[in-house]
Amino acid sequence: MSAVTYEHIKTCKQSGARLGKVHTPHGTFETPIFMPVGTLATVKTMSPEDLLGMNAQIILSNTYHLWLRPGEDIIKEAGGLHQFMNWHRPILTDSGGFQVFSLSDLRNITEEGVHFRNHLSGEKLFLSPEKAMRIQNDLGPDIMMAFDECPPYPAEHAYMKASVERTSRWAERCLEGHQRPQDQGLFGIIQGGEYEDLRRQSAEDLVSLDFPGYAIGGLSVGEPKDVMNQVLEFTTPFLPENKPRYLMGVGTADSLIDGAIRGIDMFDCVLPTRIARNGTLMTSEGRLVVRNAKFARDFRPLDENCDCYVCQNHSRAYIRHLIKANETLGLRLCSYHNLYFLLDLMEKVRGAIREDRLLDFREEFFEQYGFNKP
Ligand code: GUN
Ligand code: ZN
Repeated sequence: MSAVTYEHIKTCKQSGARLGKVHTPHGTFETPIFMPVGTLATVKTMSPEDLLGMNAQIILSNTYHLWLRPGEDIIKEAGGLHQFMNWHRPILTDSGGFQVFSLSDLRNITEEGVHFRNHLSGEKLFLSPEKAMRIQNDLGPDIMMAFDECPPYPAEHAYMKASVERTSRWAERCLEGHQRPQDQGLFGIIQGGEYEDLRRQSAEDLVSLDFPGYAIGGLSVGEPKDVMNQVLEFTTPFLPENKPRYLMGVGTADSLIDGAIRGIDMFDCVLPTRIARNGTLMTSEGRLVVRNAKFARDFRPLDENCDCYVCQNHSRAYIRHLIKANETLGLRLCSYHNLYFLLDLMEKVRGAIREDRLLDFREEFFEQYGFNKP
């Protein structure tokens, strides 16, 4: 039996969305789920206690960053990532593939792996499927990701085909290199850009290797929204129904709902915490830029429909003051609210699937959020 398994609860009769549970060595999380990102073994400005308070069920961290600092050897010596950061619910780590492509210039991709420069020191580094597995085995997350190539958008068909084929060969090497399949689930990552034939080829290649879960990568890289939705629609039919499906790097409220409708179970993105740190809030009525002068004397909560600690205790005027004065509490309060907002949204999505009304929920949410307004 795999370390990570998917339990299907039901399919929404209105939308086709999936309601389920994923079981891991550090417990179970409900799907569809949003995973807060803790790149450097911390969800920026949030303590593990904060994360429990907002009921985060699983968080994500990054192989690339932890490899560079503090080094996977130190985390292994601490007893693994859960112990090191004192987070005892499930953790997923990305493989480093994407970060190498997004953070470093001067990279050189070969069949063996990727040569690049450390984005901090300029030092020459090399990452390969085997190395990404060894590091993730040392870090000890419940779910680890295969080492893939995420080409930029748009990429030509010929380049994308060669890249997809290499990512499939790398996926095989990842499975061979993985030393802890009994307590860490390794997910494959489907690439192929906007090309239907290549998404199919990538999905078929990876499904034949029998991973305990599948991610759809190479999206949210600058393509229009309808391209992402189409890619999901023509890729998911090739995925097994009894394994979790993870859409990587997607974290806007509308994309989470539209992804769930297309059968996605897991999402992650730095967006809620990144925009929080410059005072941009996700609310039930759309984005709110709290630095704006119009909030100077606005003593209402960030979101009048939010039950989070921040909205129960603090005003827009106070949080605006904190952000403008560069007070760290401002960063914390905005981060807490944004994460709570997306976690709560997914809880509502799960409730709507349970009641076979996710399309109705989407209409109601988009109306209030401002998407249907002229
Ligand atoms: N994060 C967002 N997109 C991707 C992707 O395509 N591959 C990996 N490894 N991580 C991602
Ligand atoms: Zn709130």
